[in-house]
Amino acid sequence: MRSPFFVGGRPSGRTRSGGRKEISAKMKTPENQDMGPVYAVLREKAREIAGRLPVADFYRVHGSAIERSRETLQGNALLADVFTLVRQSIENDFGHGLTHARKVARDAGALMLIECEGIGMVPAAAERNLILVQAAGLLHDMRRKERHHAKAGAAFARQALAVFDLTPREVDFVCYAIRNHEAFQRVQPPPRPEATLMSDCLYDADKFRWGPDNFTDTLWDMVTFYNPPLAVFVARYPGGMRKLEEIKSTFRSDTGKRYGPQMIDFGVRIGRELMNVIRTEFTHLI
Ligand SMILES: [Fe+2]
Ligand SMILES: [Fe+2]
Repeated sequence: MRSPFFVGGRPSGRTRSGGRKEISAKMKTPENQDMGPVYAVLREKAREIAGRLPVADFYRVHGSAIERSRETLQGNALLADVFTLVRQSIENDFGHGLTHARKVARDAGALMLIECEGIGMVPAAAERNLILVQAAGLLHDMRRKERHHAKAGAAFARQALAVFDLTPREVDFVCYAIRNHEAFQRVQPPPRPEATLMSDCLYDADKFRWGPDNFTDTLWDMVTFYNPPLAVFVARYPGGMRKLEEIKSTFRSDTGKRYGPQMIDFGVRIGRELMNVIRTEFTHLI
């Protein structure tokens, strides 16, 4: 996932090695002002607004699947090794770090369990799919700062997973899911029809993050990275809100289609309220 409020932008503030690059003139704040304190206040406002919303139906209705997914994510040996690999190389300064990866893995696993139960898959196969989609969730944004990050992430995963105890078919499924997770891109043809389920679960879990998570976390991590003037942030805001509306119709699994739009609606509500706060309390900075 990327925050919809920065669709089309590439990070220009820091290199992969962490060194500062020149920030482009378009993004420069007046007199290179550090906007961090302003965005920290806005993050808190957004979190206050989000805290007043009810728990999303997906988490309320499917608590047991989410808990089982969480337990597997914490207790499975293969996933522990994948997590160690991810922790060593993922970049945490862009809103798509470890916290994002773990949330996507958890929700993708829950979606997989629900979908597998829905089609009557045998438990052993469902359990294996759970582990594989969680591996995909942990790995999916490892190349997030690259221009074609889904493609680059799939290539990274293919190389990284070569030393893991997975069959070639399983590696193909995980890499296909990663390759196919980016919003508003043409859906890639699956290596086999059965690979679609894993891809759909990863995509939907990633797009769940365009709901409240966008306003409580991702957006602010990204603006901290870019440090745009508030006027630039505000100018991009309507486009970001439109992207939220557009993503609602793109959920792919039956469960994602049922619950995803509500999460996006929650995000839209937070976004609208937050803009009211900006227009009333921060007009001097716009
Ligand atoms: Fe993501
Ligand atoms: Fe992504």
